[in-house]
Amino acid sequence: MNRAGAGRAEGKPAPGPGYGTGARIFHWLVALLVVVQIPAGIAMTSEPLLGVADPLYILHKGSGSVLLVLVLARIAWRLTHRPPPFEEWMRPGEKRTAAAAHAAIYVLLLLMTVSGYVRTVGDGFPIEFLDALGVPPLIPFMPRAARVMLVVHQFAVVALIILVSAHVSQVLRHQLIERNPVLARMWPPFGGGRRAQAAAPGAGEDA
Ligand code: HEM
Repeated sequence: MNRAGAGRAEGKPAPGPGYGTGARIFHWLVALLVVVQIPAGIAMTSEPLLGVADPLYILHKGSGSVLLVLVLARIAWRLTHRPPPFEEWMRPGEKRTAAAAHAAIYVLLLLMTVSGYVRTVGDGFPIEFLDALGVPPLIPFMPRAARVMLVVHQFAVVALIILVSAHVSQVLRHQLIERNPVLARMWPPFGGGRRAQAAAPGAGEDA
């Protein structure tokens, strides 16, 4: 049932302002890398795939390092750019839940990338991609902390999978079942910016 659409001639709520280009690029780059990281991480630690573990480790640690930089930059961007307001047809409880889920995803992304880095470099393992770029280890040898971070990495990924699945299913529910155009807030990756501002004057600097 399309709550907000009731009363509109075309039966659909008008799309509100979307995110700006910077936020969209960060969102889809991070999403793409997380989609690489999870299967690569599971595969490289699976016994039957031991034969291909080395290249998978190199891929996982390399794209994970890029992700660490992206996540830090994305958090800085988010803290300095106001996001567009939630759609007016969302219930207050739904807005609060979505805001909490988004914040938790940021925290989990940070936990995943930092724990992966400390688990690797703190235990004296190389990150081949960073070595090739001449980036030195940024932390000292700390095997105890590395072991703790391995546990953090393994638990946080479960929470991340649950939250991202909930996030995607809410977007799909709104978009496909309730016919509320939420996806246009973040898709396409290079949209938004001035166009989004013009759609909702007064929305402020969108992220
Ligand atoms: C959002 C980012 C990341 C995701 C989603 C992710 C996901 C995963 C997953 C699913 C595993 C398998 C866990 C298991 O054993 O069950 C894993 C293991 C691992 N990850 Fe990540 N990872 C991320 C970032 C990183 C980063 C930045 C690094 C290092 C630069 C890294 C290094 C490792 C290492 C070394 C392991 C193997 C741990 C071990 O068994 O000793 N990860 N990761």
